[in-house]
Amino acid sequence: MNNQFSKRWQSAREALRWRGLLFSSLLATREMLRPVMYWHAWHIFQTDLERMPTPYAKEKVDVKVFCNKENRGSVEAQISLMGGIPSAEVNSRFDRGDAAAVAYVQSEPAGFMWLTFTDGAELAFGVTWIVHADEALRYGSFVVHKWRGLGIHSAMNRALNEYARDRGLARTLASISAVNPQSLNLAKRARNPPLMTIILVHIRGVNWTYIKTIDAPFSSRFARSATKLIPRKPYSISDEM
Ligand SMILES: CC(C)(COP(=O)(O)OP(=O)(O)OC[C@H]1O[C@@H](n2cnc3c(N)ncnc32)[C@H](O)[C@@H]1OP(=O)(O)O)[C@@H](O)C(=O)NCCC(=O)NCCS
Repeated sequence: MNNQFSKRWQSAREALRWRGLLFSSLLATREMLRPVMYWHAWHIFQTDLERMPTPYAKEKVDVKVFCNKENRGSVEAQISLMGGIPSAEVNSRFDRGDAAAVAYVQSEPAGFMWLTFTDGAELAFGVTWIVHADEALRYGSFVVHKWRGLGIHSAMNRALNEYARDRGLARTLASISAVNPQSLNLAKRARNPPLMTIILVHIRGVNWTYIKTIDAPFSSRFARSATKLIPRKPYSISDEM
């Protein structure tokens, strides 16, 4: 209980410090309204794999990409422990063919990031991605607290982009929350402007979702799933933090 409280307190302090009062208040209000309504605002980014951004890690970092069963070893447990993701979820991502870049600093696991080749992955509220055959989607990046602010994210991003390029793909895509300046730092440093922005507002009682896109039509990257809306799992494919 105490441990959980101290983790929450650490996250709240980190949010205040790195996201500022405005974004932190917005996120706190969103949590309070969760039983009634929830919203997301994501910037959508695209990386041309012929012009990959240069990593800017300040620490010596070794990044390994894991994908198939043979070479995975203990990586499932490492990801699960670092990110607090149930191992069943980690396994199911690998089982559907996703790849994970895991960063090691001073030989200890320092972060991870995922890449999926799946078309139709859910962003949220029944809105799904359109991912073409020559594309892949980067998602779920995480860096362990003590290694944050050292550009580890950029090294994992580079490793997954190289991995996608080596598989003959032309570009990778990503959604980053508009209220997550820590994650947006990657695109800012690469001077990579968003392709578009998508805003989703979901009203729970009536199960209704308002969708607004800016800079590109909704149908250029997304579709609405015809299936009944299932409440979003905490570890689905999009990056909400
Ligand atoms: C987002 C995240 C992956 C970035 O990883 P990273 O390797 O720390 O990224 P960077 O080194 O580029 O740092 C990004 C920004 O974080 C902030 N930062 C710096 N030191 C930090 C620290 N000790 N702790 C937290 N944030 C810090 C700074 O704003 C920094 O930008 P700057 O270098 O221009 O000052 C990491 O913060 C994280 O795991 N966050 C929680 C999960 C999450 O939000 N995932 C992304 C979903 S879209």
